[in-house]
Amino acid sequence: MVGLVVGLAILLGCSLVDRVGAPDPGYVPPLLLVFGGSRGDSGNNNYLDTTVKADSPPYGIDSPTGQPTGRFSNYRNLPDFLSVALKLPEPPSPYLSPQLNGERLLYGANFASGGAGILNDTGVQQGNIIRIPKQLLAFQQYKKKLAAVVGGTKQAEQLVNKGLFLFAVGSADFTDNYFSPPFSARASQYTVPDEFVDLLISELSNYLLRLYELGARRTLVTGASQFGCLPAQLATRGSTAGGECDPELVNAASLFNSELNRLVQQLNGRLGLVFVAAANSVTLYTAFRSNPEAYGFTETRVACCGQGPYNGLGQCTPASNLCPNRDEYVFWDPTNPTTGLWGSLPKPS
Ligand SMILES: *[C@@H]1O[C@H](CO)[C@@H](O)[C@H](O)[C@H]1NC(C)=O
Repeated sequence: MVGLVVGLAILLGCSLVDRVGAPDPGYVPPLLLVFGGSRGDSGNNNYLDTTVKADSPPYGIDSPTGQPTGRFSNYRNLPDFLSVALKLPEPPSPYLSPQLNGERLLYGANFASGGAGILNDTGVQQGNIIRIPKQLLAFQQYKKKLAAVVGGTKQAEQLVNKGLFLFAVGSADFTDNYFSPPFSARASQYTVPDEFVDLLISELSNYLLRLYELGARRTLVTGASQFGCLPAQLATRGSTAGGECDPELVNAASLFNSELNRLVQQLNGRLGLVFVAAANSVTLYTAFRSNPEAYGFTETRVACCGQGPYNGLGQCTPASNLCPNRDEYVFWDPTNPTTGLWGSLPKPS
C-alpha cells in the first residue's frame, strides 16, 4: 500500500500533480469522482434523513465562513485536498446538491455518504444514507448530465476515463457492523475476522469491477483507517485502558488492508494499471502516535469535539466539549480526523 500522494502520482503521471507554482499551460484538471463514507462525504447527508450528519456547528468552524458544510471535519476533508492537488477551481459538489450543474459538472461529483460501508447492512442503524449500489446508480445519472453539457456520450466517456476516482470505504464495516456492540449478526455469522474480511473483499471486488465497466480507469482505493485507535473505540472498548489502540481491531484493519493489496494486484493483472491501494493518513496513525510533534500534533487520542472519555462518546454537537487548538489534534470528532491531519499529508514534489 502506497501513500495517497504517491498513489495520485502513479495514476495521473507526476507531471499532472502540483509542482509548486502554475500548472503547465493547457493543463485541464481531471474530473474528481468520490465514492464512500464519511471520509469522502462533502454534504450529501445534509439532504438525507439520517443520524450521521455534519450540518450543525461546530462542524466547519475553521472554514472561511465558519459554517458547517456537511463535511465531517472542522474545515477541509480528503476530497478537498485532492481537488487542490489536481488544481480544480473548486471541489466537486455533492451529488444531491442543487449546485451540481452546468460548469460544475466538469469538476466531477461527490457521491459519498457518511455511514456508508461496503456491505448493505453496514449503517442500518443510521437510517437513509446512500449505500454503494445507489452511489453507482447516481454516477450513471451524473454521466448523463455531463454528456448533455459536453456535447455527447462519447465526450463524457472520455472525460470519465481520464477522471480521478476516489473509493474510500472499509472502516465502517468493522466499527458499525462486525465489531458493533452489543450484538453483531455478522460476528456470529463469521466467527473469525478473516472470513468477514473475505466477504468484504469479494463485495468490494464486484464494486470495483462495476466502476471499471462504468468508465473508471484511475481509481485510488483507500485502505481501512487505523480504526482501533479512534476516540470512539478508546471510549467504548474495555481493552483500551490507558488509551492504547484496540489490538483486535488493529489486527482486523491490517488483515483487510493486506487482502485489499492482493485484490488490487489481481484486478490490475487483468485490466492494466487501473487501481492503486493507497493508505490514507489515518493508516499512518502509528507514526503520528509515536512522534506526534514531528507532525505538529500534541493530541493523538482525544477528539477535539465530543464528550465522555477521550471525547469519544456520542456525536459532536453544539453542546460538546470543543478544543481551542484544533491544529494540534489528530481527531476532530469521535470517528473523523481534523483538517490538520488531512493537511499533513506529504505534498507532491
Ligand atoms: C445491496 O443492495 C442492492 C440494492 O440497493 C442490491 O441490488 C444488492 O444485490 C445488494 N447486495 C447484496 C450483496 O446483498
